[in-house]
Amino acid sequence: MRAVRYHEAGEPGVLGLEDIERPEPGRGEVLVEVEAASVNPVDAKFRAWGVPSMPKTTGSDLAGTVAAAGGGVDYAVGDRVFATGLHTDRFAGGSFADYALVPTDLLASLPDGVTFVEGAAVALVGVTAWRAFVDHAGLEPGATAFVHGGNGGVGHVAVGLADALGATPVATARPEHHDVVRTLGAGAVLDYGRDDLAAAARAAMGGGADAVLDHMPDRYLGTDVELATQGGDVAVIAGGESTLPDVTAARSKELALHMMSMSNLATQPEMPDIAPVLTRLGRLVADGRLEVAIDRTHGLTEAAEAHRAVMEESVVGKIVVEP
Ligand SMILES: NC(=O)c1ccc[n+]([C@@H]2O[C@H](COP(=O)([O-])OP(=O)(O)OC[C@H]3O[C@@H](n4cnc5c(N)ncnc54)[C@H](OP(=O)(O)O)[C@@H]3O)[C@@H](O)[C@H]2O)c1
Repeated sequence: MRAVRYHEAGEPGVLGLEDIERPEPGRGEVLVEVEAASVNPVDAKFRAWGVPSMPKTTGSDLAGTVAAAGGGVDYAVGDRVFATGLHTDRFAGGSFADYALVPTDLLASLPDGVTFVEGAAVALVGVTAWRAFVDHAGLEPGATAFVHGGNGGVGHVAVGLADALGATPVATARPEHHDVVRTLGAGAVLDYGRDDLAAAARAAMGGGADAVLDHMPDRYLGTDVELATQGGDVAVIAGGESTLPDVTAARSKELALHMMSMSNLATQPEMPDIAPVLTRLGRLVADGRLEVAIDRTHGLTEAAEAHRAVMEESVVGKIVVEP
């Protein structure tokens, strides 16, 4: 089978399309014939940094059909499935390949009516947004939710998810993306370049944000504290060199800061499984309550271009690879 792998850290050019042996599923695993896999910044970051176990097949999420099932699994050959968490240490492979091994706690059935491209595109970013808004922030109907970068992979799904939950999302985006982010469910969209961002966000939300999703804490943690409402929740999904925001302001608002990573679900046994979250995301997409935006698709031979684009281009939604 073909797989896009890297043997050393480096630029996208270290990715090579190689012929490798097709693996056999063990107990609790299925072998999935990959129909689609999306590209995520984590794939490009791991490639640039290198990972402990190389060669490494890139790709963190997928959608496809079960080609073989190991012992003790409830899936049968031919089942349509989607999955994420494949970049974590406990999974040696990755999804930019003809086939991928997936432990079943990282996998769910893909509903009829949801395409493989949509399934792959929503998996990692959807679980991340769900964890931030549902599990950490406890977002409720009628609440306000603020999303930095409402056109991005995580951002566009976070906007749609908040809307589907009955909350009012307000997002930032560069001006050319304002209209599309509104169609994804945002009540208002603000240019992230403006100087008065916190004040404008508070005005757009009629007070402040009950929940904030921040993927650029270096730049925005202080703004988050300003625009959050009393007792609000701020979920931070990316690392950085951030210093703490104005602690006095955060304390007087009794804010809860949630430093989280979707990967924790895949690596820490005490965390809940990814599978139940995927199941719910699949239903929302199938019912038309959550839109997944696809910027474009590439073939496996264009994996390096997909890695470059996810870090350098401004897109709406996701870039997907179809083997
Ligand atoms: N912890 C986790 O579990 C987890 C999970 C998923 C992602 N992440 C991390 O979260 C980050 C975003 O991931 P993604 O998949 O959404 O990436 P993405 O698709 O590249 O989206 C990035 C978003 O950030 C926006 N942006 C860029 N510069 C900005 C600025 N100065 N101010 C405000 N927004 C700005 C982009 O807008 P433009 O289009 O205008 O550039 C875009 O909307 C990455 O660092 C990723 O590694 C973490």
